[in-house]
Amino acid sequence: MANVTVIGAQWGDEGKGKIVDWLASRADAVVRFQGGHNAGHTLVVGNQTYKLSLLPSGIVRGTPSYIGNGVVLDPWHLKEEIAKLEGQGVAISVENFAIADNCPLILPIHRELDGLREAAAGAGKIGTTGRGIGPAYEDKAGRRAIRLCDLAHLDGLGPQLDRLCAHHDALRAGFGQPPVDRAALLDDLRAIAPFVLQYAQPVWKRLGTIKKEGARILFEGAQGVLLDVDHGTYPFVTSSNTVSGTAASGSGLGPSATGFVLGIVKAYTTRVGAGPFPTELEDEVGQRLGERGHEFGTVTGRKRRCGWFDAVLVRQSCAISGVTGIALTKLDVLDGFDVVRVCTGYRLGDEVLDYFPSHSADQAAVEPIYEEMDGWKESTEGARSWADLPAQAIKYIQRVQELIETPVALVSTSPEREDTILVRDPFED
Ligand code: GDP
Ligand code: IMO
Ligand code: MG
Repeated sequence: MANVTVIGAQWGDEGKGKIVDWLASRADAVVRFQGGHNAGHTLVVGNQTYKLSLLPSGIVRGTPSYIGNGVVLDPWHLKEEIAKLEGQGVAISVENFAIADNCPLILPIHRELDGLREAAAGAGKIGTTGRGIGPAYEDKAGRRAIRLCDLAHLDGLGPQLDRLCAHHDALRAGFGQPPVDRAALLDDLRAIAPFVLQYAQPVWKRLGTIKKEGARILFEGAQGVLLDVDHGTYPFVTSSNTVSGTAASGSGLGPSATGFVLGIVKAYTTRVGAGPFPTELEDEVGQRLGERGHEFGTVTGRKRRCGWFDAVLVRQSCAISGVTGIALTKLDVLDGFDVVRVCTGYRLGDEVLDYFPSHSADQAAVEPIYEEMDGWKESTEGARSWADLPAQAIKYIQRVQELIETPVALVSTSPEREDTILVRDPFED
C-alpha cells in the first residue's frame, strides 16, 4: 500500500500529530481531510515544540501539505497559525502548502453561535472547543456556506449572503442578538481574501496528479472515532465524520487511495469535554495518569479526563474504521504502576456486552469489566526498539492487540519525534 491514513481511535489527543510528523519523512504529501482548528496536535522535535491546529503536521518537516475540502477553514486563524509557525522557523509558502478552494469557511458568526448555544444548553452542554466547528458544518450541509473560492467573487456574494443571513438572523434573534452585520462581514472577508486565496487550488486535482506519478500520500485525521458524528458518543461528538473513509471524500481521492489505515491509540484513555466515559477514574490513579501524561487540552487548556485502557471501545473503533494496524502511544505514562487494568467488556443491568451500545443513557450506564495485569517498574520512556521494553510492557502490548483484534505497527514512548518503535512500516505494508 503506497498511502497511509492516520486516524484517532479514541476521543482524540491520542498523539496523531507526533506520529504524522514521524511518518511525514516517508511521505510525499500530507493531507488534512476533516475537522478544523478544534484539533490540537503537539510535535516535539529536539528542544522545539510545535502546536498545530489547522495546518497539516507534515508542514513542520517541509513535506508538501494540503488542506482538503472536508475541513472547515477559519481564514483568520490560519493567518495567525502560519505566522506563529513561521516565527518558529517553519517555511510555509505556495510551494509547499495549498488549500482546497471548495473548503467551507468558519466565519465569526459561527464562533459566536457556538458560544451562545453552549451557554444556553445548561446540562446539555457538549463542551465544544468554541471554535465554530458545528455551526460551520451545519451551514455547509444547509447549503449556506461561504467557501474559499467565493472570496474571489465577493461582488457576486449578495444572494448567498441573503440565504446565510436569513438563517442566522432568525437564530440570533432567538438568542437576543442583533442581526448579522453584513457590511462588517464583507469588509472582513475582503481584507483576508488576498492572503488566503494565494493558497487556494483544486486540491483534488493536484492530489490526483501526484498520485498518478506514484507519490506516497499521508492522510491526517483529526479528533477520534468516538467523536465521529455517526459512530461516536452522540450527541457528545464533533460535527464531522472522523472515520478513515472520510479521507477519500474529504480530499477528493477515491476510497482506494486511503491505503493502510493506521489507528492511533493511547495506552490508556482520555476525553476532553462532556459525555460518557466508562473507564474514567476520578481517583488518584486518574490524577496520576493526567499528571504523568500532561493531559491538558492543546486548544482550550482544559484538563482531560483520564481512565484505564478500554479495549471494547478501541476494538469497535478499529472495526468501524477498518484499521490495518495501530500506533500505541504514551506507553511510558503507564511506567511504575503496580497493576494496570484493561476493560474487556461491559455490564449493563443483567447483560454482558462486548460492544458499546448506541443510546447515550446506556453508554452512561455501562459498568466496565476489568482484567488486571502486573505493571512494570522499569522505564520505557525514550525506548526506540522492542528490545528496550520490559517484558511486562511487551505482555501489555500483546494483550492489547489481542483484545482489539488489530496488530501494533508502531509504539511511541515519549513526545519526542524519534522516540518511536517501528514494528511494521505502514508505507511498506
Ligand atoms: P493529537 O491531537 O492526537 O495530535 O494529540 P495531542 O498532541 O493533542 O496530545 C498528545 C500529547 O502527548 C502531546 O502533548 C504529545 O507531545 C504527547 N505525546 C505523544 N506521544 C507521546 C508518548 O509516547 N509519550 C508521552 N509521554 N507523550 C506523548
Ligand atoms: P484532536 O485532533 C479531543 C471535542 C470537544 C468536544 C467535542 C465537540 O486534537 O484529537 P467541537 O469544537 O469539535 O464542536 O467539540 O469534541 N474535540 C476534541 N477532543 N481532541 C480533539 O482534536 C478534539 N476536537 C474536538 O472537546 O467534546
Ligand atoms: Mg489534540
